[in-house]
Amino acid sequence: MSVTHDPSAPSPQPAASARPNEAEIAAVGEARRISVARARLEALFDPGTFDEIGDRVLHRSTLFGMEKKQIPGDGVITGVGTVDGRTVYAFAQDRTVLGGSLGEAHALKIARLQDMALAAGAPFVGINDSGGARIQEGVEALGGYGEIFMRNVRSSGQIPQISVICGPCAGGAVYSPALTDFVFMVDGSSYMFLTGPKVVKTVTFEDVTVEELGGGRTHSEKTGVSHFLYPTDLEALAGVRKLLSFLPSNWKEKPPVMEGPDATDRLCPEVLEVFPESSRTPYDVRGIIDNVFDRSTFLEVHKGWAQNIVVGFARLAGRSVGVVANQPLEQAGCLDINASRKGARFIRTCNAYGIPIISIVDVPGFLPGCDQEHQGVINHGAKLLYAYCEATVPKLAVITRKSYGGAYIVMSSKHVGGDVNLAWPTAQIAVMGAKGAVEVLFRRKLAGEADPEAAALEAERHYEETFLTPDQATGRGFVDAVIEPAETRRKLARFLLRTETKNTARPERKHGNIPT
Ligand code: HXC
Repeated sequence: MSVTHDPSAPSPQPAASARPNEAEIAAVGEARRISVARARLEALFDPGTFDEIGDRVLHRSTLFGMEKKQIPGDGVITGVGTVDGRTVYAFAQDRTVLGGSLGEAHALKIARLQDMALAAGAPFVGINDSGGARIQEGVEALGGYGEIFMRNVRSSGQIPQISVICGPCAGGAVYSPALTDFVFMVDGSSYMFLTGPKVVKTVTFEDVTVEELGGGRTHSEKTGVSHFLYPTDLEALAGVRKLLSFLPSNWKEKPPVMEGPDATDRLCPEVLEVFPESSRTPYDVRGIIDNVFDRSTFLEVHKGWAQNIVVGFARLAGRSVGVVANQPLEQAGCLDINASRKGARFIRTCNAYGIPIISIVDVPGFLPGCDQEHQGVINHGAKLLYAYCEATVPKLAVITRKSYGGAYIVMSSKHVGGDVNLAWPTAQIAVMGAKGAVEVLFRRKLAGEADPEAAALEAERHYEETFLTPDQATGRGFVDAVIEPAETRRKLARFLLRTETKNTARPERKHGNIPT
């Protein structure tokens, strides 16, 4: 079988060990006699391209003996360089200087760099490793964070903003990464929380470790705060370089085109080796993704969180695309609160940066139950709907199997602005599955039959023949074409190239009001 993704392979997240990344990056720094912060920046940028800005900046605090603690640069290295030849602005906090704490001068260095990145239309990367607001500077430190947050929001949707957490990130400091497009964490040596374990213990009497409360795994698997988790600093920074290769420098530019050796008109019959014959059997949709898109280009986002939906960047005909796929391997691919939040966030990121969205649809519906309803699946599910409706980038979709109920409408249907909607012959498009439909429609009638079970089966068969095919949808023009699975890559690639020039006017308004 030529599926490139091995579902049994461990995720790239090894067991936490004692700061392996720090040792590794410290070794790089030591060998070159540079700080860990500088070694991180060197790992991010193309060799020899980093130019530092503000290396002699000093703080002006005189409280608590601070006038005697003057370190040029004030605990943060700021500057500009290139990543794969493209300009990127970045800072790295230095925990060996006043704990990497953020005072007024430190903050204004970062804020100035944010202004420069926005003016230049270039991505901004922040490498965070800090004890938070500099206690000795009081409100000046707090105000410094405010200046950064304000610029995070001003840059949002204009230039890609990426945060890498390489150490502590506590208190209000977490809000700057949370305002950026992507958060990278390092397993075992980075953590993010609003209040640390000691305060938690005092207030709620809970005993919790730093790792449990806000470590990389917590944020990659439970909260979704972190988009990527890597074993070491160096791998995280290599991940940032890879992510940047899918993104434009700013919202007005197009992402880089990188045509590889994989022929655009290649047939992909291997998808059928992944796709089960029975519509009740689960399978890993990544097996389909790996065979349809340019080989080995898929970069999964939020891999450990809300695994009932798979999202990530890939290339098709060398073009950067955002893939959104239901995952039948988890909860049969049902949409729920977290899947909706994950999908919505990814779609809005793609739309902001002009990256077409390709959806692979196999979804039995939204997950029913009190838990979901009481936690607000109505609003959270509406986020995914809103994101698809709002997105003006080319939207292509393939229905492979189930596409039921509200989930049919949400997942890039024609009704919410899908540009090209394809279906495999196995597609089933209906309000609900046969069993549920027969139960609702014929319960009374079936009870009066001599053999209710046989009558129910007969009614289900009739329902399946009528609805559980793509025919009704093709007849109405809601599905543009039924394609053989092996043609999926070829067809998607052609339609992608033909919708590339799509130009959609947006309604004039201040901004929409996305459900929360
Ligand atoms: C000033 C700080 C500091 C801070 C650390 N240092 N954090 N100095 N302000 N926030 C200094 C220490 O005094 C010490 O100085 C040196 O940095 C190294 O700190 P250690 O504690 O020895 O290091 P370590 O054991 O590695 O512990 C790291 C740490 C811990 C877990 C980050 O320092 C810590 O808990 N710091 C406080 C974290 C915090 O609560 N920050 C405020 C968050 S609230 P010397 O001189 O001894 O070497 C916040 C609000 C933002 O940030 C609001 C935005 C709106």
